[in-house]
Amino acid sequence: MQLINDIHKAALTLSKGGLVAFATETVYGLGADARNDRAVAEIFAAKGRPGFNPLIIHVATHEAAFRLGDFGATAQALANAFWPGPLSIVVPLRADAGISKLATAGLGTVALRIPAREQARQLLAEFGGPVAAPSANPSGHISATTPAHVLAGLGAVDGLVLDGGRCDVGVESTIIDATGNNPAILRPGGVTSEQIEAITGASVKLANPVTADAPTAPGQLTSHYAPRAAVRLNAASARPGEILLAFGPGDTTGALNLSPSGDTTEAAANLFAMLHQLDADGATTIAVNPIPATGLGVAINDRLARAAAPRPQKRQAS
Ligand code: TXA
Ligand code: MG
Repeated sequence: MQLINDIHKAALTLSKGGLVAFATETVYGLGADARNDRAVAEIFAAKGRPGFNPLIIHVATHEAAFRLGDFGATAQALANAFWPGPLSIVVPLRADAGISKLATAGLGTVALRIPAREQARQLLAEFGGPVAAPSANPSGHISATTPAHVLAGLGAVDGLVLDGGRCDVGVESTIIDATGNNPAILRPGGVTSEQIEAITGASVKLANPVTADAPTAPGQLTSHYAPRAAVRLNAASARPGEILLAFGPGDTTGALNLSPSGDTTEAAANLFAMLHQLDADGATTIAVNPIPATGLGVAINDRLARAAAPRPQKRQAS
């Protein structure tokens, strides 16, 4: 990565689908255009994540956030009280938001925040679109709060680091699920539960975060997008009644192909969109070609294994 001071250059790089690490008040984020599947896949490749966690989407203004998510009264109150600032608010994703399905891990919800750092907001305003940005560190390492940390962990990555000096808060944003009327904290962080309770006027509970690595507690698996169709892994070809999801140059059937050239980053960029497409096409079983366990192939296989796992029994409504 190249360390720079030029916000215009950073914004231009985002527009072109490149990666830009930038300082927020909490930690450095590794940002990319949240509407660009390929750019979002590059984030996961750079971090070496073993799974596809949904990413926090950063915007410059309240109006921009309200165009991406459906803000009920509680979410609206939280946004007004804490933005700009270290609170990420999970709300239902608007159908016309245009956010990459890879960035939201195919969920019907989205985590949004306006960072408080002036430089970050200038970057977001100049870029003019939503930026997906997890912490700018290799997966499993501690978050970066200086440009030197970013370079030490991700120096070999193709992209820019916008020099913003040291981050003040040092821990990530608080994530709050405000999809309903009773908000729950999914991850403690820069805004305390007391501060939140002062706004909502009710006690706020701590819930389990949504992570790809968490054991699949009941409900957890369904909260991540699983296609309606059954999934058969490592399929050389489709059997009668199945629809093939191909990978690599070997397929000549004209099936949807995650990456005709066999590139796992391209395959990751296409994964969620193609699963949705096959559902829309009415597939009952999706047969997926083997994906090599290299690069993002590890994360793709993790995701597909979850999609292929036995589905939790639907609870009887009571
Ligand atoms: O302070 C921060 O929040 C930093 C800076 C860069 O803004 N960003 C950050 O992003 O920590 P990230 O991608 O590491 O946080 C992602 C986490 C996911 O693992 C998940 O727990 C939660 O945010 N998340 C994202 N979207 C969600 C959703 N729709 N529903 C529930 N949780 C979600
Ligand atoms: Mg992180």
